[in-house]
Amino acid sequence: MLAEKVKKAIRDIPDYPKKGIIFKDITTLLNNGELFAEVVDYFANKYKDVDFVCGIESRGFIFGGAIAYAMKKGFVPLRKKGKLPYTTVSEKYALEYGFDEIEIHIDAFKNIKNPKVLLIDDLIATGGTAEAAVKLIQKVGGEVLAAGFLIELSFLDGVKKLENLGVKVDSILKING
Ligand code: PRP
Ligand code: MG
Repeated sequence: MLAEKVKKAIRDIPDYPKKGIIFKDITTLLNNGELFAEVVDYFANKYKDVDFVCGIESRGFIFGGAIAYAMKKGFVPLRKKGKLPYTTVSEKYALEYGFDEIEIHIDAFKNIKNPKVLLIDDLIATGGTAEAAVKLIQKVGGEVLAAGFLIELSFLDGVKKLENLGVKVDSILKING
């Protein structure tokens, strides 16, 4: 099963980036070309009817870009504040301490009517980042058909935030504690 393979391929880094946090390191999965392709194909084969893939900076770019390529669909980057050159809309979201902000270009889906989007990130924890991403996509006229993650930290309930916005969540590996 894909979830089992993913579980085996990632590694836990205790006390990174600070004490008490167990960091999920995906670089060991990226290193495995066949498994990386399997993850990409899982999403690419399942959401054929979307018009765009949106990826969240920065680890969402790795999977989102590859998935968009596999599907031959456009890729739309959701970037941290100040990185996109044209006119943007932005959304703040809470971090453990303080706030961060992500942005999307105002004309990201300009040439398509009622654009359907697959949102991709490597991991959903509290869901704050993905919630801000969904709001941004909706603000510029997109409909998020699904939000796909390699890893979901289910015990943090981030999925609820997306479901409240009418978005289906599709996570390969669910971690319950
Ligand atoms: C991590 C991860 C997700 C987000 C999930 O990104 O890649 O994007 O946190 O957290 P949340 O569900 O609690 O909002 P991070 O902000 O560390 O940045 P990076 O992808 O650039 O490493
Ligand atoms: Mg991230």
